[in-house]
Amino acid sequence: MDRTDPIIELKGVSFAYPGGPQVIRHLDFALHKRDRIGLVAPNGSGKTTLLHLILGLLKPSEGEVRLFGRSMRGEKDFVLLRTKIGLLFQDADDQLFNPTVIEDVAFGPLNTGKTREEALAISRDTLHRLGLSGFEDRITHKLSGGEKQMVAMATIVALQPEALLLDEPTVGLDEKTHKRLIALLAELALPCVIISHAFDFLSATTDRILTMENGRIVLDEEMRVHIHEHAHKLGSKPHRHV
Ligand SMILES: Nc1ncnc2c1ncn2[C@@H]1O[C@H](COP(=O)(O)OP(=O)(O)O)[C@@H](O)[C@H]1O
Ligand SMILES: [Mg+2]
Repeated sequence: MDRTDPIIELKGVSFAYPGGPQVIRHLDFALHKRDRIGLVAPNGSGKTTLLHLILGLLKPSEGEVRLFGRSMRGEKDFVLLRTKIGLLFQDADDQLFNPTVIEDVAFGPLNTGKTREEALAISRDTLHRLGLSGFEDRITHKLSGGEKQMVAMATIVALQPEALLLDEPTVGLDEKTHKRLIALLAELALPCVIISHAFDFLSATTDRILTMENGRIVLDEEMRVHIHEHAHKLGSKPHRHV
C-alpha cells in the first residue's frame, strides 16, 4: 500500500439485488487514513448495501472495489483484508452466532491465528474496555438489544481493525452506553464510516457528513451548514435559524 492510497476506494460501482432495481449506481467513494465520515440518508437509500459491497459480502455488477490500494477481484482477496476493516452489522443478530459472549468475541482473534489463551485474554480485555466485564459467560441470544449491540462492537474491536464501518451503532443504546461508545471511538481514533440518524452521535464521532441520493454518495451541503454546536436548546441537533 502506498502511503497516499485510500483505505477504501470504490470506482463506478453499481449493484442491484436479483430481480430488483439498481440500488447503487456508478458510485465513487474513498475513505482516507484520517477520514471519519457520517452517512445519513433515508431508509432504503442503499447505505447498508454500500457497506456490504465494500467488504465483498455483495458483488458489484460493475465497477471496482479497492482496499488498502489493492483491487479486490474475488473472495480470496477479501478474506485477507476483511478482518482489517471492522463491520458492525445493522442487526447484531447477524454478527453474533456463538452460544456465549466470550466465544463470540474470541472467534475473530482465534480465526486470525491467535492461540486460545491469547484470544481469551484479548477478549476479556476488550469486554472490559466496553464496560462488559462479567458478560463473558452470558448467553448471547438472551441479551437485550443494546447489550447485543455492544457485544457485536466487542467482536470487531477484538480484531484490532485499521478502519471501522458501523451500521446504525446507537440503536437500542441507553444514554450511558451511548457515551461509552463515543469515548471508545475517540480512543480507537480509527478512520470510519458511520451510518446513523443520531446527529448528536455523529457530531461527536465524525468530521464530515455525506448522504446518498439516487444510488450515489453526495455531500450534503444543507446538513453541513446546520450541524454546529452552540448554547441554545437545539444543541447539536441539526436545525434551522429563521
Ligand atoms: N437482501 C435483499 N434483497 C432484495 N432487496 C434488498 C435486500 N436488502 C435490501 N434490499 C433493498 O435495497 C434497497 C437498499 O437497502 P439498504 O441498503 O438496506 O438501505 P438502507 O441501509 O439505506 O436503509 C432497499 O430498497 C431495500 O428494500
Ligand atoms: Mg441500513
